[in-house]
Formats: sequence, C-alpha cells, structure tokens
Amino acid sequence: MTAAAHTRAEREANLRSAFDQREHERQAVAAHYEHSPEIFSLVLDSRLAYATGVYEHAGEDLETAQARKYARIAAKLDIRPGQRVLDVGCGWGSNLLYLAQHSEGVFQGITLSAQQREEALRRARAWGVADRVQIDVCHVEDLKLRPESFDAVLFSGSIVHMHNRPAVHEMVGELLKPGGRVLISDCYFPVQPRGDRDSAATEYIFVEALGYCRLIGLAEELQLMERAGLDILHVEDLTRHYAQTLAHWIDNVRKHRKTIDAMAPGFAAVLQQYMTVARMSFARRTALEYMILATKGAPTVDPGAWPIAQKGGRS
Ligand SMILES: C[S@@+](CC[C@H](N)C(=O)[O-])C[C@H]1O[C@@H](n2cnc3c(N)ncnc32)[C@H](O)[C@@H]1O
Repeated sequence: MTAAAHTRAEREANLRSAFDQREHERQAVAAHYEHSPEIFSLVLDSRLAYATGVYEHAGEDLETAQARKYARIAAKLDIRPGQRVLDVGCGWGSNLLYLAQHSEGVFQGITLSAQQREEALRRARAWGVADRVQIDVCHVEDLKLRPESFDAVLFSGSIVHMHNRPAVHEMVGELLKPGGRVLISDCYFPVQPRGDRDSAATEYIFVEALGYCRLIGLAEELQLMERAGLDILHVEDLTRHYAQTLAHWIDNVRKHRKTIDAMAPGFAAVLQQYMTVARMSFARRTALEYMILATKGAPTVDPGAWPIAQKGGRS
C-alpha cells in the first residue's frame, strides 16, 4: 500500500520501488553521517548523542541534559544481565555504549555509516566494553536475525529516516521476545497541519541536509506498533527539550564554524541552517518530539510498580 505523502521527499519515495527506496536511504541518509566524527564532537555532547536531551530548566547545559536522557533511556529499558539489545541507528554509540557501561547486557548496533561504526567501536574498546558490543553497517530492512532473539530494541533519532514503517515495526514485533521492550525517541507531525509542510525549509532539511526524513503522526506510529503486537506503555512529549538541545548545537556550530569549514567546506552552513529551521519548528510545535515505550504483548514487569517518569529523571 502506498504511504500517505505530506512532503516532496515522501512523494518521491512513493514513486520508487521498495528496493530503490532502500538504496536511496542507504546513500542519501549515510552521506550526512559520513562526515568526520571530529566535526560532530565540536557540536554535540561528549558521548555524541544526535537526539534531544532532557532538561529540568531552560538554563541547563547540553552535557547535563544528555546525561539525564541516557539515564532515562536506561531506566525505561531496564536491561538485566545477559539480555540482548539491538540499537537500530546507533550513530557514534551514544546510547548503546552508555547502556553497555551501565548494565551487563549484550549489544548489537546498526548504522548506515562506516565512519560512525568505526568511531563507536573505537570508543567501545577505549571504555572496556568491546567484548559485549557488535556494530554493523546495515540497513534495518536487511537485518537477518532470529525471531524472538532480543530483549530490547532502541530507535533514537533513527526511525524518522525510514520510509517503510510497517515493515520496521513488524520486524521489531518478530525480533522481540515476549515481554521485550522497544523504545523510540523521534520527531512527528501534529495530525492537524500547522504551517506549510511542503515549504522550501522543510524540503531543505528532509532532502538536502539529512537525505531522507518521513515524519508521520504519533497516533499513526502507535497504531503500526500495536498492529505489530506491541503494547504501548508510556509516551513522553520532549518537544521543548529538542528546541533547547538545538539551541545548544547551533551555538556550538557558530563557535566552531571556521574549524568545521576547514574539515568540510560548507558543512557548517548546512548544520546551522537545518538546525535553525528545526529549532523553530519545535519551538512553534509545527513538529513534535516524543519518546515512546512499548512491550511485546503484556509487560513482564508491573508498570504500576515501575515509576519510569521519576526513575532516570536525575543524571
Ligand atoms: C540522528 S542519528 C541518531 C544516532 C543515535 N541513535 C543517537 O541517538 O545519538 C540517526 C542514525 O540512524 C541511522 N540510520 C538511519 N536510517 C537507517 C536505516 N535505514 N538502517 C539503519 N540505520 C539507519 C544513521 O546511520 C544514524 O546512525
């Protein structure tokens, strides 16, 4: 079935075969992340989270907000010794390595970028967790994994790049053991359009800067998850937090503009422009950011005895 299209990026995706769209994502999306990790280390926090932090107040710094987010994700996923975790779109290993350092789980990450894989593995070795970490360059739809072989699956800032959402959720439904957890932290469009989704600014972010993005409505994502056999446990609005995170990133791009341009001519302008549009979109809530937690079937823990909103709230 052809997906409803809100933007030029999605209309073009609908004209491609499933195979061609996968190849398009593989190349167009990877291009952004293949820039040197050194550049991103000038802009992001020290663990290189390319996703929102969680703030307690507007004056808080990026490092503190990202530390709180790692702790919150760790609390929500609640990884027990020996449990297997898949991080789909693991970037430079921000969450995956934090979880590896703060649990006794076993971790598999995938990314579209060889540079990201190399940097994440370098960090895994430096931080003494390489024996429990595997990272591959792989498109999510190419994963060949045994059914019911994972206890938790994480998508942080990555599902937005994936056009074929039903296939992604079906895969998660198959991969998870009964009671296993899935956590998504990503961007959505409000159901009632606010502003012009087909604007040149949106196209700049979705096509020029980030290769391919598809924002759907939160309810549509939740429905796809439920159809795949997942029980929604918790949804948290992080929209203001993303506007705040982007403000920090933009400051850092401005501060390091010359150094970034020396490494990749023109890339500082790309970052500053797309981040400025994104920050405005979250500030005006024309785009929204949510963190979703679900389990496969009934949860194996009692959510009533599991104060997830507070647990992990502190860094
Ligand atoms: C915004 S970054 C987020 C990185 C990391 N999860 C974090 O929170 O810091 C998006 C990541 O998703 C990966 N990605 C995007 N589409 C993907 C796909 N179809 N299959 C696998 N990885 C994908 C990119 O390579 C990149 O690592």
